[in-house]
Amino acid sequence: MATAGELTIRPVRPADRDRVVELTKDIWNGHDYIPAVFDDWVGDAASSFQALEVDGEVVGLQRLRPYAPGLVWYEGLRIATSHRRRGLARAMLESAIAEAHEQGRGEMRLATGNLDAVHLFESVGFQRLLDVRWWRGLRVEGGESARIPSPAEAEKLWPAVAASPGIELFHGVMADFNGARDLSAAELARLAETGMLRVGPGGRAVAGLRRPWGNNIAVGFLAGAGGSLRELLMALRFEADADGLDDVVVSLPREHPAADDLLASGYDFANADDHSYIYALKL
Ligand SMILES: CC(C)(COP(=O)(O)OP(=O)(O)OC[C@H]1O[C@@H](n2cnc3c(N)ncnc32)[C@H](O)[C@@H]1OP(=O)(O)O)[C@@H](O)C(=O)NCCC(=O)NCCS
Repeated sequence: MATAGELTIRPVRPADRDRVVELTKDIWNGHDYIPAVFDDWVGDAASSFQALEVDGEVVGLQRLRPYAPGLVWYEGLRIATSHRRRGLARAMLESAIAEAHEQGRGEMRLATGNLDAVHLFESVGFQRLLDVRWWRGLRVEGGESARIPSPAEAEKLWPAVAASPGIELFHGVMADFNGARDLSAAELARLAETGMLRVGPGGRAVAGLRRPWGNNIAVGFLAGAGGSLRELLMALRFEADADGLDDVVVSLPREHPAADDLLASGYDFANADDHSYIYALKL
């Protein structure tokens, strides 16, 4: 438990539920996801879901979630509207960074779409890794789903993936807003092992999937170009249809050259005006 003046940062408890629901009611026009994940987060002993109390009242939240060796994901930062612009988010973030550092984590990563929060994260040294555009392709009937390679085959795809046009725009990580992992041969094998990798014809195009938020197939990275990538992008739309899902959502770094292949395969921008960033801080 960390205290500074009358501020207390302590674990969130099941009994905090009503206050957390109240605190998040006016965040994102009532669409905050925290009430939906509250029970999971409170029950997850591997992560640290924290409340900030001021004068005995919970006014802030944050969570640190270890998700890969050396990496901790920072999420759920919230300050009650009644208590904004008093440095409370900064105090919570600094405490989280100190805690991750003490635990010997090498890096903290996070995703945000809030430009106010971007100022905060950049001011403590976070570097922007990804500036993501969301693309959407609706389900379509009639074709074959893409193939899932074996883990051994997936590892061998790595040299081609690493040489793929635009791969440098990923800055070495998946565009996964649940936890951006390092892109590597081992990561391709892990994705294949868990059924989350798809390959196009001849292994010349590759899609890494992430856990979806909605009723869709969610893609966190793409490699390849031209005909084989277009076939893979269509195959994902066929797979969405075969699985009874609405669409395929692809998060891709801004200016990525696959944009042309996405357009040619019936995908559109889903967030032309939004901001979606992934940041990292070396600890
Ligand atoms: C973003 C949020 C956590 C900031 O909380 P806060 O306690 O008001 O932030 P702080 O007072 O600690 O401010 C820290 C820095 O954030 C930035 N900031 C915060 N609110 C801002 C605003 N309204 N406009 C511009 N910059 C802002 C500033 O850089 C500020 O530093 P400064 O005061 O030295 O200029 C809060 O507004 C919130 O809960 N928003 C909704 C949920 C959300 O978007 N969370 C982040 C998702 S990752």
